[in-house]
Amino acid sequence: LELEVKRPPKPPLHTIINTFDFETIAERTVAPKTWAFYSSAATDLLSMKLNKEAFDQVLFRPRVMRNVKSVYTRTKILGFDTGVPFFIAPTAMQGMINLDGEKAVAEGAGEENVIHIISTNSSHPIADVVSSGKGPEQQTHFLQLYVNTDRPKTSQLLADAKACGLRAVFVTVDAHISGKREADERLKVDIPVKSAVSGAISHNDRKGGGMGRLMGLYIDRTLNWEDIPWIKSVAGGLPIVLKGIQTAADAKLAVEYGVQGIVLSNHGGRNLDTSPPALFTLLEIHKIYPEVFNALEVYIDGGIRRGTDIFKALCLGATAVGIGRPYLYALNYGAEGVAHLTQILKDELETTMRMCGVTDLSGVHPGLVNTRKIDA
Ligand code: FNR
Repeated sequence: LELEVKRPPKPPLHTIINTFDFETIAERTVAPKTWAFYSSAATDLLSMKLNKEAFDQVLFRPRVMRNVKSVYTRTKILGFDTGVPFFIAPTAMQGMINLDGEKAVAEGAGEENVIHIISTNSSHPIADVVSSGKGPEQQTHFLQLYVNTDRPKTSQLLADAKACGLRAVFVTVDAHISGKREADERLKVDIPVKSAVSGAISHNDRKGGGMGRLMGLYIDRTLNWEDIPWIKSVAGGLPIVLKGIQTAADAKLAVEYGVQGIVLSNHGGRNLDTSPPALFTLLEIHKIYPEVFNALEVYIDGGIRRGTDIFKALCLGATAVGIGRPYLYALNYGAEGVAHLTQILKDELETTMRMCGVTDLSGVHPGLVNTRKIDA
């Protein structure tokens, strides 16, 4: 409560018109440790910055003189209906910016059925998150999985997730260790933080400490390709997606190991600095193993802040994109903030579609973008 009182007031939600407004307001109004954990990235922040800049280098090749009176953004992800071709990327400890955390995200995501990928480091239990939305029959949620060194705990988590009605498992493969996030390391944890799902705790008796590292101590660093059959066996038939693929070679391996999807991602630049933006990996796959796009669904995340960014990714073969930090910053306004951010991104996407002459998402193709500036 004391922290609440000291924070400056937030401007009214209706005055927020883009993702950057939410970010600026979060920086000014949330607890310093929350801001440090959410906004930080690995060492020199180069990958985080490149994630955004890469999109800015892609230009459109708009087609004109089409009837764009009505446009439709709905699509399917792994066969599940969603109102928009973007999902809420898994982010740990959403309760740090709003006490209801993941529950408020589920509520706010319900309107357009934006799919929320619940983190293994969720602040709230999965059952509570699902029941805060429209319920498992009406709204789709997926699980993000960090495999535990104590493998039976992972089997149990997957069984619980399935029982709660989660529809797919996104296994994070780029975080055998968390990156060196210096802004996060410099600040002490001012409020004790514990995940209701993984049980991971960030102690507040330490001087400083990167939340990412403290929350990731249970993650199994032995996890490797040969574990995929085991993951499939304990996932009880749920589709498997590998999150954190960064080369065409690994995308091809994912196909060979028979998973249903991959997220090209550098974890928002938070893990290995100077790892490639997902957009570069997407282009690399086009060049080296384009057959990947026929074998599984490809998603990308990192630095996606505009409807134009979303549309560029779709033109280049992504089925959908993940949005990470912007949803955390929108959660500063609770469920309403989450719903408002969705409408902002949807409106920007619809505007882009109209300007490019596309009325529904089956009409996207690489000919609508010019990637010359980043095509090495
Ligand atoms: C993440 N991310 C993440 N990924 C994951 O697989 N499991 C997790 O628990 C988390 N936790 C997490 C916490 C915070 C605070 C952030 C910012 C990110 C990574 C996330 O899913 C996604 O890859 C990036 O956030 C995408 O980049 P943008 O949209 O934040 O630029």
